[in-house]
Amino acid sequence: MLRALVLGAAAGGGFPQWNCNHEGCRRARSGDANAKPQTQSSIAASIDGNDWYLFNASPDLRQQFFDNPQLHPNQGARHTPVAGVLLTNGDVDHIAGLLTMRESQAYSLYATSRVHQVLHQNSIFQVLNPDFVVRREFELDRSIELQKADGTLSGIEVEPFAVPGKIALYLEDASAGENFGSQPEDTIGLRISSKATGKHFFYIPGCASVPEDLANRLSGAPLLLFDGTLWHDDEMISAGTGVAKTGQRMGHMSMSGDGGTIATFAELGIARKIFIHINNTNPVLLSDSPERASLDEAGWQIARDGMEVQI
Ligand code: MLT
Ligand code: MN
Repeated sequence: MLRALVLGAAAGGGFPQWNCNHEGCRRARSGDANAKPQTQSSIAASIDGNDWYLFNASPDLRQQFFDNPQLHPNQGARHTPVAGVLLTNGDVDHIAGLLTMRESQAYSLYATSRVHQVLHQNSIFQVLNPDFVVRREFELDRSIELQKADGTLSGIEVEPFAVPGKIALYLEDASAGENFGSQPEDTIGLRISSKATGKHFFYIPGCASVPEDLANRLSGAPLLLFDGTLWHDDEMISAGTGVAKTGQRMGHMSMSGDGGTIATFAELGIARKIFIHINNTNPVLLSDSPERASLDEAGWQIARDGMEVQI
């Protein structure tokens, strides 16, 4: 059985975000049962429930380790069930948690060559002791079986593939054309499968559009966890957050509208569709909102911190 545990359902900033005074964040702070706080973007996967692989390492990782007993140390004086970490991009909300995992503890760190370069070029990540943390590169469109730091095979296979997206905000090069110097390896999705059963799911927390090859890849999938950043492309602007950016500018497609995620995936025959990486301005985080009600009708669920799905 392949298990996927949602560590953080929210996008960068979390829900509520530290400086957001928009209605949703205010309700989340007030303890409103229909506006449950959610931490930042990450899942964990396991076959046996003993060894877990993290998919992205969010700034809330310390809290996520505390909140999820599956990830508590359970042997000796120093231990973690976390055998490895995989990164889908170099965004702050996906890499800052690595700094929480800086003690001398063995695990594998998987990323594309591009994202590894980002970590290498930023000296703060040298705090990950190379005697313990084994950096492993994965290649696009090549399936591998995940390994622990000592090389032990996990029974979990992953296939990384490029998806339309954008280079991390802090690496944007305004002189490099319309997509700020983004390369295919900057934003990936992952097909995650059990070697024993062949059962699989897709994890794509950031995606700007669904070209035909991506639609074909995902068509008929049993389970998809997909970018649910915004409801409307201009939502952060209309919410008055002071952020003058659309979802497209940030490398995210939006849920609603003609070219939106809900419409795009309607005919792809995907058995279970779950939005993840949901921004704090997105009304679907409010369980009494009409947008949230329409998701149920459209055949989508939203991820929640601590939610576990099995396949
Ligand atoms: C994103 O998902 O667009 C980024 O995480 C935004 C950010 O860097 O804050
Ligand atoms: Mn993000």
